[in-house]
Amino acid sequence: MNEKNNEMNAGLDRRVAFFDALATHWDDDEQNPIQTVERLRSLEDYLKLAPGRRVLEVGCGTGQITGWLMEKVAPGSVTAIDFSAEMLARAKQKNIGATFMQMDICSPIPPIGLFDLVLCFHSFPHFRDQTQAMKTMSGLLAPNGRFVVMHLAGSKAINHFHDNAGGAVAGDHLPDEQGWKHLLNTAGLKQELLIDREDLFILRAYA
Ligand SMILES: C[S@@+](CC[C@H](N)C(=O)[O-])C[C@H]1O[C@@H](n2cnc3c(N)ncnc32)[C@H](O)[C@@H]1O
Repeated sequence: MNEKNNEMNAGLDRRVAFFDALATHWDDDEQNPIQTVERLRSLEDYLKLAPGRRVLEVGCGTGQITGWLMEKVAPGSVTAIDFSAEMLARAKQKNIGATFMQMDICSPIPPIGLFDLVLCFHSFPHFRDQTQAMKTMSGLLAPNGRFVVMHLAGSKAINHFHDNAGGAVAGDHLPDEQGWKHLLNTAGLKQELLIDREDLFILRAYA
């Protein structure tokens, strides 16, 4: 349903250049990493984090929450991926003990079933092919693993914000309830939680 702009691969996705350009000032301008992590602490039960868990963070950006995820799952692991080389370069400078990889989540990847949690924090609206992204992420979930999309604001505000941002991310939306049903169904996932209120969006599903 969401094959935006008919872009077939990351090389044609204008969002790569868009996020590359934002990377240098991301931690100063866009979000306050300390406040973000403080807020996440109060919401961590939703993520079912526990020592030993294997987490895949999709669209990790500069790694604002990656260090916190590492703390929560140690001695487990966090693999943090992004398709923006510039975002990843900043994340790597932080010397977080995570594995950082440049990867496009909208590409098909063999279903290795490796992760206990696949987390899209503030990233899902930007995936140009949300159907393929969901299939890829579903295939990366271990048995009993959880798929979580999380934003520290509701979908109405998120969608409105991206429309006003314009450029490469104009129209980058979170799906509506029907859209999620369809996406989850196609990816073989079952919804177990959906919160969409002014200050929080969480969708959690399992295989
Ligand atoms: C709004 S930023 C959020 C970054 C980080 N999660 C944070 O909260 O600071 C969205 C991130 O998703 C990444 N992204 C967008 N589409 C992607 C894709 N198809 N594959 C991998 N990463 C992607 C962007 O490069 C960007 O770093």
